[in-house]
Formats: sequence, C-alpha cells, structure tokens
Amino acid sequence: MLIKIAPSILSADFSKLGEEVLRIEKAGADLVHIDVMDGHFVPNITIGPPVVKSLKKVSKLPFDVHLMIENPDMYIESFADAGADIISVHAEACRHLHRTIQKIKQLGIKAAVALNPATPLCAVEWVMEDVDMILLMTVNPGFGGQKYINGVTRKIEELERIVESRGLNIDIEVDGGIDTETVQYVTKAGANVIVSGSTIFAAEDTAKIIQELRMNSYR
Ligand code: DX5
Ligand code: ZN
Repeated sequence: MLIKIAPSILSADFSKLGEEVLRIEKAGADLVHIDVMDGHFVPNITIGPPVVKSLKKVSKLPFDVHLMIENPDMYIESFADAGADIISVHAEACRHLHRTIQKIKQLGIKAAVALNPATPLCAVEWVMEDVDMILLMTVNPGFGGQKYINGVTRKIEELERIVESRGLNIDIEVDGGIDTETVQYVTKAGANVIVSGSTIFAAEDTAKIIQELRMNSYR
C-alpha cells in the first residue's frame, strides 16, 4: 500500500496555523492530521470546526480529522461541513459505533475508527467492512511528543493479517511517537498512513524530514 505522511498540526505554531499548513503542503505532506480534543475523552483541549473551516481555505490537502471527544455523533456534521475529508472516531467513545460510521459516510466523506493502545482489535471486528481506515494509537491520546509504545507493533501486524485475510482495501494509520526510527517498525508491521507531529514540526527542514520518513518506510 502507498505510504502517506500525515503531519499532525498539534505540534505546529498555533499563532500562525495557516502558514504552518501551507508549509507542510509545500514540503510534500499527503494529508493534514487535525487532532480534536475536548478535555473529557482526553485531558487536553485543542481545536473545533471554525478552525478547520479557516484552514480549509488555505490548503488543498485532504483533512484527516481525529476526534478525541466524547459523544462524537453530536459534532460529526459540523466537522464535515467545515471541510473534513476523513473523520476518525474512537471506538471507546461510541455506544453505537456502526451507526456513527454510517452517519459519517452518509455525509459523503471517509470514515475511520481509532483504537487506544489498550483497546483490543475485536472492537472493530464487526465494522471492518464498513470503514475506509483503522487508526491504531501508538501512544495514549492527549498530547504530542510522547514515546512510541512498543507493544503496539504486534497489534499492527495482527490487524494487517486480518485485513489481508479478509481481502479488505483499508488503510492502517498509526499515530503517536513516530520518528525516523519507529516509522520503520510500524510500516514493516503493515501501517501505511503515518501521523507525525513533533518530529515533523521540530525539524529545521520540513521537506527533508517528510522525505526521510518516506524513505525509512518499509515497502
Ligand atoms: C495524540 C495525537 C497525535 C499527536 C502525535 O493524542 O492524536 O496526533 O499529535 O504527535 P507526536 O508525533 O508528537 O507523537
Ligand atoms: Zn491524532
């Protein structure tokens, strides 16, 4: 599967977000990963639909909106209207996951389900046929700059095996602690959509770090 690099703007300079998004677009990013946090599902608060809407005016890249919020059903439509191209909801936050996925797809955008590191893969077993992507968290969600949790590598491998054996055409995204070293483990295990925040935004040369992440990926 094609490797896609999705810089997380959580590590960008929020005082000039538009410029930061343009910077990653020019540097060769494939997606813009937008971390939405509500202070309930995760212990941090970030951005909402108005910010997504403003950023949509400056970038042509697909917006990969990662909802780390309680009751995502209430906000899906607002994020779709604001310009989300893919919406990820956490299985842990959805009481009726299947219904939530259908709701996203009815809005004409792609649907993904995210799993925390401790959530087993069986949480998505019966919706795998319905989603475009599964996001495996490789840190506990809430903050950028955390260390990659090694144990998740096996979970990526197992998901890849299931996806392969069912003949499904879905992306496997990983999020948290991805740098030029850990990108090798996750892509070897089967991930193809790579979120990276602090590594990309801390680098002097954005195009170079994105290229390095791509080059270090296993194909
Ligand atoms: C964590 C967020 C991530 C985060 C990744 O809750 O979902 O997208 O920004 O940041 P790094 O790459 O710094 O771990
Ligand atoms: Zn994220």
